[in-house]
Formats: sequence, C-alpha cells, structure tokens
Amino acid sequence: MRIDVFTLFPQWFDWFRTQRHVANALGVGHTLACVDYRATTPLSAGQVDDTPFGGGAGMVLRIDVVEAALRARYGEDPVDATARPGRRVVALTPVGRLLDDAYVSELAAEDELVLLCGRYEGFDERILEHFCTDRLSIGRYVLAGGELAAMVVCDAVLRKLPGALGHEDSALEESFSPALEGAPEYPHYTRPAEWRGWTVPDVLLSGHHANIRAWRLAQSRARATGDAGSGRPLP
Ligand code: ADE
Repeated sequence: MRIDVFTLFPQWFDWFRTQRHVANALGVGHTLACVDYRATTPLSAGQVDDTPFGGGAGMVLRIDVVEAALRARYGEDPVDATARPGRRVVALTPVGRLLDDAYVSELAAEDELVLLCGRYEGFDERILEHFCTDRLSIGRYVLAGGELAAMVVCDAVLRKLPGALGHEDSALEESFSPALEGAPEYPHYTRPAEWRGWTVPDVLLSGHHANIRAWRLAQSRARATGDAGSGRPLP
C-alpha cells in the first residue's frame, strides 16, 4: 500500500515511522510519505490558509494550496486522481465518518491512501467536495489538526497489512474483528498463574482447545452486551 500524508508538519511523522509495526510494514514494501503543503503553495511567504468568508474565528485551509500540492505530487487534476479506482483520498475532520474496525479494513484493502490533514478551522468545503472520497473522524472531539488523526489511521491500517505484526494471526482475532463477531476481545492472562492469590481461569490452563475457544467467545459476547461492561472478566 502507498500512503501519502499531506500536512503542514511532515516532521511529526519521523518518530511514527520508527515504530516497530510501521517500520515492519515499510520494510516489506508499503510506503508512507509526507507532503508539505507549504512546499508548493502558490501564495507568497508560505501562506496556506485564509480567513473565513462570512467572518468568524480561525483560519481555513485554501483550495488553491491543496490543489497545487496534489497536482505536484500526482501530475494530474486532483479531480481525476480522486476518481481512480483503488485509491481513497481522505480528509481528516472531526465531523467525518467515525473510524471503526470495518472502516479500517475497508481502507486497508485499497492500493493507495491519501490523507489530507487540516489545521485551525479546517478545510475550504470545496476541497472535501471535489478532491476527497472520504471525510474521516477519529472521534467526536476537536484536535488542533489532522496529524494525530492521520497517525491513528496509519497505525490501524498498517497493522492490518501482511508483514506488519510479528505474528500473522494477531490482527485476525482481535477486538471488533469479524472473527469475534465485532465484539470486544476476551481477557488475556500470562504467567504467573497465581499472583497475590489472584488466579487465572482454570479453563485457560486446561489445554482443552474447544473449551478455551468457547470460553473466549462467551467472554467476548458478554463484553459486547455490557454484561462485563467494566472490562473485567465474567466469573
Ligand atoms: N481534525 C481535528 N479533529 C479531528 C478528529 N476528531 N478526527 C479527525 N480529524 C480531526
């Protein structure tokens, strides 16, 4: 998968790229590049945003700036680039479609992911209408910009790609995955089997795989229905 992040703060992603599963994914051929809006802005003094028509607080990312950055990167009209199959152009915005496991899987199945980070008050609406396939929110709260949200998306998408995690099965049966019927994951335990009198459920020590599987599914379902809403295992 090719991921391009358009941002005013490309250096924020330097640390992110060094994280193990991200580095693993990049090591097997996926790419994560950052494109700085300021590098191609047609405005003077590195200007990228402007005051909103109609008044109000904050600054709005300009469409001519975003178009210049997209054209420089892809060598074509962004409207045409966005229409290409296998490609999603995603604007990070607090009012977008909420990110969940199904949405992550959808994005992970694409060949190319373009993430547009906004800053301040956000995007000129025409950017979203004409250059984007998606508007994505990581939650109903407002961040100072889309960069952290873009990292959340990259993290969640990259760990679904083959080669990102050490153990190939680890992303298959996890919270909210189809393997667990979309439910939260069951509780995990490791050694020591007893600590300060706190024990591990017997079934997990039994070596009986069918029973373990049934117990885990029951725990997972219970968490989904709120029977174990505290996150604590059922008795
Ligand atoms: N940009 C600002 N806040 C955001 C959020 N909650 N999700 C995605 N992008 C954002």
